[in-house]
Amino acid sequence: MHKIFANTLFIGKQVISLPSCHSTNDLMAQMSAKNQLHEGAIIITDHQTKGKGQRGNTWNSPQGENLTFSVYFKPKFLKPSQQFELNRMVSLALLDVLKRLVPNANLFVKWPNDLIVNKKKIAGILIENSINQNSISESIAGIGLNVNQRDNLLSTATSLASHTQRTWDLNQLLLEVAQRIEHYYLILRGGDFRLIHELYEANLYLKDKVAFYEDSVSKFNGIIRKVHPDGILEIEDDSGIFKKYQFKEVRLLSNH
Ligand code: BTN
Repeated sequence: MHKIFANTLFIGKQVISLPSCHSTNDLMAQMSAKNQLHEGAIIITDHQTKGKGQRGNTWNSPQGENLTFSVYFKPKFLKPSQQFELNRMVSLALLDVLKRLVPNANLFVKWPNDLIVNKKKIAGILIENSINQNSISESIAGIGLNVNQRDNLLSTATSLASHTQRTWDLNQLLLEVAQRIEHYYLILRGGDFRLIHELYEANLYLKDKVAFYEDSVSKFNGIIRKVHPDGILEIEDDSGIFKKYQFKEVRLLSNH
């Protein structure tokens, strides 16, 4: 059972904690449509039965072992073209928490918003926004963080417990993540996008490194050069051409 958070300003003042739920993102959207949520609300479940991932994938997590939750925002200060700021800020929040807990690991954010520890994915983020005229009226940030799971992890995935050989308190971890999300959200709300951009880029996986990618045309060796303010990824291919990609338009095949 998760209590409301005492030491945050607005995140986690409303916590809906469910033993089981299809998808915390979907439930959050349903509750929002009924005006049942305050900004900063969290929906968390021990057992997500139909978790959604990026690119229409599913997100599977064994009951009670990991964190699967969503946070509700009303980021009206952001224009639709600034949606990617939300991906950046949630990624950085998770990164900070992981850096503290696994200080000796190689930790990165893989574009657009996967958290990578020693080349394996430890957390995924699914952000679903609603646009109203010229602003983002609401945003649902869904987070799946692999915490105590040790068995049946995909070969490309890992968890905190696998790295640290210990079990973690999910309540405490949720609180820490929420505090860091609030920290970065307030920076965004204060308009300091530059700081957020710099931190994101400084922690970007495979930036300035050769890796093997696939787009709709071909497979190629390329080097990530930058992420544009609107979230577009720029990769320089091996013939020196700079290619720009939206979400889902390019995939990392291998990092050699
Ligand atoms: C990814 O594919 O990397 C994104 C995974 C996001 C999973 C989380 S778990 C909580 C929230 N509810 C969902 O249905 N999905 C997100």
